[in-house]
Amino acid sequence: MISCLKKYAALLCLTVFVFSLFGCSMQTESLLSSPNEQIRVKFSLTEAGTPQYEVFYKENAVILSSSMGFEFKDQPPLNEGLRITEMNNRQEDETWAMPWGEQDSVRNHFNELKIQLEETGAPNRKLNIVFRAFDDGIGFRYEFPEQPNLNEVLITDENTQFNLTGDHQVWWQPGDWDIYEHLYNATKFSEIDAISKRDDPNLKATYIPENAVNTPVTMKTSEGVYLSFHEADLTDYSGMTLKVDTSNNSMVSELVGSERLQGKAMISAPFNTPWRTIQIADRAGDLIESRMVLNLNDPNILGDVSYFTPMKYVGIWWEMHLGKSTWDMEGSQSMNTFTNSGEIKPNHGATTENAMRYIDFASENGIKGLLVEGWNTGWDKWINTDDREGVFDFMTPYADYDFDKVMAYAREKGVEVIMHHETSAAPLTYEKQMDVAYKFMKDNGMNAVKTGYVGKIIPKGEYHHGQWMVRHYQKVLEEAGKMKIAINAHEPIKATGKRRTYPNAIAREGLRGQEFNAWAADGGNPPNHLPTIAFTRMLSGPIDFTPGIFNIKFDEYKPDNQVSTTLAHQLALYVVIYSPVQMLADLPEHYMENGKPHPALQFIRDVGVDWSESHVLDGEVGEYVTIARKERGTGNWFVGGITGDEERMETIVFNFLEEGKTYEAILYEDGPDAHWDTNPQAYEIKTMDVSNTDTVEVMLAPGGGFALSLKEK
Ligand code: NOJ
Ligand code: CA
Repeated sequence: MISCLKKYAALLCLTVFVFSLFGCSMQTESLLSSPNEQIRVKFSLTEAGTPQYEVFYKENAVILSSSMGFEFKDQPPLNEGLRITEMNNRQEDETWAMPWGEQDSVRNHFNELKIQLEETGAPNRKLNIVFRAFDDGIGFRYEFPEQPNLNEVLITDENTQFNLTGDHQVWWQPGDWDIYEHLYNATKFSEIDAISKRDDPNLKATYIPENAVNTPVTMKTSEGVYLSFHEADLTDYSGMTLKVDTSNNSMVSELVGSERLQGKAMISAPFNTPWRTIQIADRAGDLIESRMVLNLNDPNILGDVSYFTPMKYVGIWWEMHLGKSTWDMEGSQSMNTFTNSGEIKPNHGATTENAMRYIDFASENGIKGLLVEGWNTGWDKWINTDDREGVFDFMTPYADYDFDKVMAYAREKGVEVIMHHETSAAPLTYEKQMDVAYKFMKDNGMNAVKTGYVGKIIPKGEYHHGQWMVRHYQKVLEEAGKMKIAINAHEPIKATGKRRTYPNAIAREGLRGQEFNAWAADGGNPPNHLPTIAFTRMLSGPIDFTPGIFNIKFDEYKPDNQVSTTLAHQLALYVVIYSPVQMLADLPEHYMENGKPHPALQFIRDVGVDWSESHVLDGEVGEYVTIARKERGTGNWFVGGITGDEERMETIVFNFLEEGKTYEAILYEDGPDAHWDTNPQAYEIKTMDVSNTDTVEVMLAPGGGFALSLKEK
């Protein structure tokens, strides 16, 4: 009752506030507060009638006056001469259930202000701007209402400014129109230099036209406030990069373009852009706990998605990246030569026998899924050519892969096979075959597919992150949704919270994954990679990182490459990196020691993949992070902690456990001399009892980590 009254009072306050400002006839500004009143947005029009906004956190500005506007083909820009015709506000406070996720349910609580604008002179075009203030940040979007003088139009520029209050510390990657598989850089804002990241030899398709960054981009102010910029609900528009002006601490939206379109995005009114989002937090870990980006998406429209079960999976995958086997039967100069140097001999990985070996390993260890790459014909033809249409048909197995036999064996052993569709970045071929390919999957009891888009997009002039491809990725979600199929996309469009609306969007890549450790010319991902990813890429959504490499140096395959973490760090990733599908990426034989399962494999067997609660216990961007998650159904807790190249002592405070209960804890930690480079596989396992008043100290080696399972006694 009290909380109800409080809510009513807050609503009343807000209404009176907006009303009183709007009381005078020439209204030019308005204020919006978050429910807890810590975050405020001020919208105003300049004398010239240009819309602008400012953002405050606890009374201090975090975004200085920043203007908003659009440029079009064959139309004057829409960025001045505007007046406010109407303002409305409302409040929302709802709780929605996650079909799978980091927690059971999410509270969506915000205050909204909608400003309707119209040009004072001809052509009298209209534009609405909607702001939502949450306790953990703000979002705003543009709405083009239906109107006579703005119907179908090509946007040649969206100019949303983000003027910062200082030369912040920034964790950024270049604004690449084709790929998110860059390392994050930690520099001052004034030192951002995306151009120097061009021509990365590890990337098949990359295009960085200017000094811009991709989102999410995370920052820390000198006052210790964390900010992260991204977007929500990217459905029928171009992905947004942020062009940086290093001399003015300023950013402006730079949409991914299309050379075919000679512009950025074709829209037709009524049309809503994606939300531009700014997460704001005092604690780095709060960025990870925020669900604001999800809340800015529409509710689930697919209904029941129980055809997809969150799962761990093994795969005929790492062996190709290591060069143990090939994707194709021919041993051609295709994908194999990208991931391996030297002579490639025919040595097909996806054979019937090998698939059965992985199925045995999965079923013996309680692992539900199996991914098989290279099962279908076409792999010899596609990589070094522009003529990639029609290479794959997603139906025809190689001669040495008895599809029916593998499927029958998997069924018998209780293993679900995950389909693989490498499109070779030829989406038109994929769209043509999609319904047949999905039907083929369903007829064979397959409910999830890993898709891939390696290479430059065909048709030429389109980019992975432009509107044309955004529409493609959207179409895949919709068509797969109709067929009850879940999508794990590699070389995807960034996650923008669409999994709320389409919970068949289970995971995606969109980062430098584990695969880079097998073949990258620069030596792979450095130890601070994942402590950075947790506070950047992971803010957008689930990651198919493919953790769990036990044979860290794999000298027998690639003497010049390695994983730059300890084994315990690999275990911790099952908790730290959120995804409803988690791979056991290493080869089955690498999970064995002296003919027996490796003792640390027990953690991966035990760890959950679907959670009722998640808490970030500690962390600092790019340095370390510790996350605790409670498994749905069992109530077991798992804790994972990782560090970058600095060793550290972490104190785990168990106050998240239920009071009065005793838990059996198994701790997998770095061995005393462990080090990501000199001694990565040294680990120890300790068993103890803990309750919610206990604390435990764990030492993390350089590049190290720990994993902990907690089961009620
Ligand atoms: C790139 C993906 O990220 C990787 O996982 C896959 O093995 C190859 N493409 C081949 O599809
Ligand atoms: Ca990739």
